[in-house]
Amino acid sequence: MIGKRIIRFDKLDSTNDYVKQHLNALDHGTIIFAYEQSKGKGRFGNVWVSNPGNLYISLLIKNQEYRDNIFDLHIKVSVVLIELLKKYQIEAYIKYPNDIIIGKRKIAGILIETVGYNKARNIILGIGLNVNQVNFLELNEKATSMFIEIGKELKLDEILSDFIDMFNKKSSYLNMYDKYIKKSIIIGRKIGYQGIIYTVKTVEKNGKILLQNSNGETEIDFDKLTLCKEYKNL
Ligand code: BTN
Repeated sequence: MIGKRIIRFDKLDSTNDYVKQHLNALDHGTIIFAYEQSKGKGRFGNVWVSNPGNLYISLLIKNQEYRDNIFDLHIKVSVVLIELLKKYQIEAYIKYPNDIIIGKRKIAGILIETVGYNKARNIILGIGLNVNQVNFLELNEKATSMFIEIGKELKLDEILSDFIDMFNKKSSYLNMYDKYIKKSIIIGRKIGYQGIIYTVKTVEKNGKILLQNSNGETEIDFDKLTLCKEYKNL
């Protein structure tokens, strides 16, 4: 169960960093919520601009569930966000591994961090979901929000409670994986890797990408994929 305890802040530097700094005092499933972040973090060391109006949360995962295959968590959170958006009549897709997009514009970003090793490994799942932001200025081509998509202001508390309910719902791993695959825009796309053109055949259960061409198949990791210009332009 997640979300039994939610700790709210008007402003934090970063909800992920707060969890890291208070790891021992927080129980499994605790959610840290901030209305605003002054140093919101994105992947690859990017800044996640975090003005008031959107959802900024971090969930602490202390149990064993995702320790052996963290990609299961990428799948779970991506599918939950897709279903949450669907509840508000928003049809979104997944840009592997876990960006949530509409067309070419991002509506949610996910930052998964781990702290500690083996049995003492804890996972911090950070989510930034654009809810009520009306204008992204120079990022208007790259970002969207629920408000922009449906023209309605939404209550952050309701969205958070939907997220918690959907995350807590038991669903078989295969069912989740199936939904993830159906919503992944990368599958079927052409990618140039080491000077050779491949079609992305699928995303495997361990999170690797399976590429295929007339000479056969090859598997690549996420870090190699990010080097492909076709991936960047998806
Ligand atoms: C990305 O680059 O796509 C990931 C963005 C993750 C942003 C969220 S907002 C809540 C949590 N706290 C952070 O500092 N980052 C994540």
